[in-house]
Amino acid sequence: MYRLLRPLLFRLDAETAHVLTLYALRFTQAVPPALGLVKLLYSAPSKSVTAFGLTFKNPVGLAAGYDKDALAVKGLGALGFGHIEVGTVTPMPQSGNPKPRVFRLVEDEAVINRMGFPSRGSAFVQKQLTPVQRTSTFELLLKLKPRKPNTIVGVNLGKNKSTPNEQAVFDYLTLLQDFAPFADYLTINVSSPNTVGLRQLQGREALEGLLTQLHAQRQLEEARLDKRLPLLVKLAPDLTDPELDDALDVILRAGMDGVIATNTTLAREGLRSARAGETGGLSGSPLRGKSEAMLEKVVRRVEGKIPVVSAGGIMSPTDAKRRLDMGATLVQVYTGLVYAGPGLVKKIVRAL
Ligand SMILES: Cc1cc2nc3c(=O)[nH]c(=O)nc-3n(C[C@H](O)[C@H](O)[C@H](O)COP(=O)(O)O)c2cc1C
Repeated sequence: MYRLLRPLLFRLDAETAHVLTLYALRFTQAVPPALGLVKLLYSAPSKSVTAFGLTFKNPVGLAAGYDKDALAVKGLGALGFGHIEVGTVTPMPQSGNPKPRVFRLVEDEAVINRMGFPSRGSAFVQKQLTPVQRTSTFELLLKLKPRKPNTIVGVNLGKNKSTPNEQAVFDYLTLLQDFAPFADYLTINVSSPNTVGLRQLQGREALEGLLTQLHAQRQLEEARLDKRLPLLVKLAPDLTDPELDDALDVILRAGMDGVIATNTTLAREGLRSARAGETGGLSGSPLRGKSEAMLEKVVRRVEGKIPVVSAGGIMSPTDAKRRLDMGATLVQVYTGLVYAGPGLVKKIVRAL
């Protein structure tokens, strides 16, 4: 079906097409028969994996940035994902960079985006993630049924543009407290290239200060809520080897639960598309090599102490299998969905 839909979507500006698909999924999740149909079409066989104390029904997740405001978590879950990472969420609402800010590079099977964290803000996203109270007898009876493992929901956290780096920790602490009750795990995003200075938070000293405080706050939240709250850190593919070593050293010592490698890249090697010169982060096929190289280094360096989540240029079942074989515990896709469509998730899971 996506073969028919794609040419129509590709006639639209990339962000418009994205908003359309997101709202189609939001509509779907509000209409039980429609949601049932999507589940029927896309449900993937169970291939469960355990990581950070959580059981994922399969290792394939949706990378951050697709559903920034948690508008369609249930609809996306119906596409077969083992986990959905919503966000990046910022504490206060902000509009992001001027449009156009997302570009398809069709010849390269890639996307460049310079969205700059448009977010409806923490309060809005919390409301989306608040479970609806179930009170009807029917619902109560349903609850008695043994439930299949749900889609895991992670929340990716970022600072507001107006927050200087020296105060970034307060943004992340606020968000950690805000989302502790609603998220299965949280991702500390210090790697998006579109917020000026954000990537500097990956430096040893800045990262150490940030993660130490977040870890302390996480422990308080875990005690308060009586649940585990895994913290992951998402890294850029453009770190040099010494920078990566420093970051991983800090991540391990600060008691983080996992690493996501990688975010988008600022590199532009070997592109053919006319849009190659656009400013922003590059994702999709051209990121494959960089992401794989980084995964290899991260896996070697963390020595199995914490799980590694691989993202970047996973466009096919072969790509996903390779990452898992290289030592990733989970994989995440984004740009692959743009080019291959939602059936990609099921295809990957089946192939594992
Ligand atoms: C349009 C777009 C928006 C994104 N927004 C975010 C974001 O808000 N936060 C984040 O951590 N990553 C964001 N990403 C990066 C993805 O989560 C992912 O790390 C990256 O695209 C590499 O995976 P891919 O090659 O499968 O797309 C975004 C990517 C794209 C294409």
